[in-house]
Amino acid sequence: MSAPTTRLSARQLLSMTGGLGAERVAYTELAGRIRLLIADGRIPVDTQLPSERELAVLSGRSRTTIAATYQALRDSGHLVSRQGSGSRAILPHLRDVSRRPNHAVNFAGSIPPPVAGLRELIAETTAELPDITTFPGFDLLGNDGLRQAIADRYTARGLPTVRNQIIVTTGGQHAIALTAQTLVARSDVALVESPTYPHAYEAYQRAGARMVASPVTTAGWDIPHLIATIQRSRPVVAYLIPDFHNPTGASMGPEDRARVAAAARAAGTTLVIDEATVDLSIDRAWDDGPFARHATGHPGTGGSGIITLGSLSKSIWSGLRVGWIRADEAVIRRLVQARPAGDLGTPPIEQLIAERVVRELDELVLDRQRMLREHRFALHEALRRRLPRWTMPWPDGGLSMWVQLDRPGSSALTSICQARGMSLIAGPKFSIDGSLERFLRIPFTSRVEDLDAGVAMLAEAWESLSGGRAAGSGAAAGVRQPASAL
Ligand SMILES: Cc1ncc(COP(=O)(O)O)c(C=O)c1O
Repeated sequence: MSAPTTRLSARQLLSMTGGLGAERVAYTELAGRIRLLIADGRIPVDTQLPSERELAVLSGRSRTTIAATYQALRDSGHLVSRQGSGSRAILPHLRDVSRRPNHAVNFAGSIPPPVAGLRELIAETTAELPDITTFPGFDLLGNDGLRQAIADRYTARGLPTVRNQIIVTTGGQHAIALTAQTLVARSDVALVESPTYPHAYEAYQRAGARMVASPVTTAGWDIPHLIATIQRSRPVVAYLIPDFHNPTGASMGPEDRARVAAAARAAGTTLVIDEATVDLSIDRAWDDGPFARHATGHPGTGGSGIITLGSLSKSIWSGLRVGWIRADEAVIRRLVQARPAGDLGTPPIEQLIAERVVRELDELVLDRQRMLREHRFALHEALRRRLPRWTMPWPDGGLSMWVQLDRPGSSALTSICQARGMSLIAGPKFSIDGSLERFLRIPFTSRVEDLDAGVAMLAEAWESLSGGRAAGSGAAAGVRQPASAL
């Protein structure tokens, strides 16, 4: 970890917290105030906080109270103290990468359990395991059998595909990162939705892209805005999640897909369509097949200009770590060339299991759909009972609800919940500019009893922010909440 860059004096901290000594508030409240400042970025990570002694003297509070305040911050993962080098601000997920989060309720990730039937399928596949020694030790493209199974599935869904259009990746995130790193040069413009899946825009940022965003709500895309942004900014890539969008749950209708594909084609923009959530329909009344069905010849490249990403993580089990990219063969060749800088292939055992999974996907996802239906209802009920002033959507698929709070304060709420042992991601994490303080993504992937317990904790924490005192406290640009946001 790098050395602290900034030191906060006791006087500065007191002024930021409204004067710790002014009221005889409990140490938990003092810790809460400082935690908020750290969580919403006003005290940046790595800032050195004043010593306990200095703060006690200037605030007029006892040394014991300040020591308890710092201890509470250490316990919630917002402070690390080292003999001789003082105490530094940190965010819980950065505190110790080797330490696993130990949160009683996890609303941070939308990570569903493995589907029923996977265990048996893995057990059957183990009989074939010795055969994998006939595979290449590592393989940049992926196992032929799995690539054929994936290609056949696209063909069956209405998008004729051959094996050479598929590269197997180590999960969907790898597919996103590999495409970003291959297609985007420093300062190229990349378009993302807002909100969007955070680790996708991080991948584009890391590739050096200049980001532009177009809004999505639970009601869907602002298509005129999206098309105008494509026309005006001419992004090199536009990353979209058109089916059961993470986090809103929205799906883009067939006519809009055709319009967006045409606008992208005209602007020379490559659409990167993330289908990680495509098989998560609960009761969507239509299925338009893969978005790339709307592709036609692309100016300049002669290719289709649409790249499709897939993953088994959400529909089957994230432990498989199998994803893929479907693209024109020329693009696949570029991806294969770029891949070794990051990794040398997906492990063959996982691919062997994945091949059977993909061939039986339609049957296997029935269990996922049943689970999502039940959990959507449970979460909706819990929210309706305990937080009736919030606006809950009723998504027809996906893994989460993009809930609108009755006032801004998503970061403050998240910070309190984190301190109470609940893991949660605030709305701004899903935007590229730190906005969306009025929103919260609540996954319905946990067990039903955990959904209820989690909502009870949310209601309590929201209540404790009574009167909206902390409203909008995280709205400053650059707010980044702790924990990964799958
Ligand atoms: C839209 C989307 N794409 C990709 C991923 C990454 O999935 P994987 O576990 O396959 O890497 C996620 C995970 O949350 C996601 O929500």
